[in-house]
Amino acid sequence: MSDYRPLVFAHRGGADALPEHTLAAYMRALDEGVDGLECDVRLTRDGHLVCVHDGRLGRTSNGRGRVSAKTLAELDSLDFGSWHPGYPVDEEPLPEFSRLLTLDRLLAAVRDSGRDVKLLIETKHPSRYGAEVERRLVKLLRRYDLAEPKPDDRVQVTVMSFAALALRRVRAQAPRVPTVYLLEILPPGIGRGRLPFGARIAGPGVGLVRSRPGLVPAIRAAGHQAYVWTVNDDADLDMVLEHRVDGVITDRPRFVLDRINAL
Ligand code: G3P
Ligand code: CA
Repeated sequence: MSDYRPLVFAHRGGADALPEHTLAAYMRALDEGVDGLECDVRLTRDGHLVCVHDGRLGRTSNGRGRVSAKTLAELDSLDFGSWHPGYPVDEEPLPEFSRLLTLDRLLAAVRDSGRDVKLLIETKHPSRYGAEVERRLVKLLRRYDLAEPKPDDRVQVTVMSFAALALRRVRAQAPRVPTVYLLEILPPGIGRGRLPFGARIAGPGVGLVRSRPGLVPAIRAAGHQAYVWTVNDDADLDMVLEHRVDGVITDRPRFVLDRINAL
């Protein structure tokens, strides 16, 4: 028995079992007992924030071309679910397994769930869209009264990005919203654990943690937390638990929760 228990986040809703970024995936992850959800956001041509990882549509839908070249109405007509082995083929297809999720729809769903949910929102490619992604994001958070977080809020939003520029924009508009600086490789200076633009949390990839065993201790010595992605197997989970990371982001929340509950 140990007091240590990291937060568990369902990456893209828990992309292993169900189609990523679908309402069904997010709700299942909450039913499984995750602390939070991870979601990527991109802008449509007509300025809506949609929960899609890739810049192009081909891998996760029956559409073609770039997300940023489509309107929300065009994306709403696509099937984002039946490509995935977890799509329920024996039943009448249900929209929650295949419908595009907008960030607005996801925020409404987590609010209406009445649960405590930590939502990690990753903005993709801030340079391509100028400051528009972060501007629209903060506007939406304000609409849900999430831009000025209070300790008893049931839904707590944290914004993540690989781009320091995006973190700076979020901090300028919503300084109290916590941010995660995501790391795939080690930029200069970060090896000593310091993060840019007021980021409270570092988000190193699991490969980076493996190749730099001193990184998580340095992050924590600098007063930050570490959320590690994407932890999907025993070896990686053993390693990050040994590092006492603060958050585990996984495509397989049930597997991670079972291991952590047995600690
Ligand atoms: O949680 C961070 C992680 O999602 C970053 O990688 O490519 O899956 O968005 P990616
Ligand atoms: Ca992501």
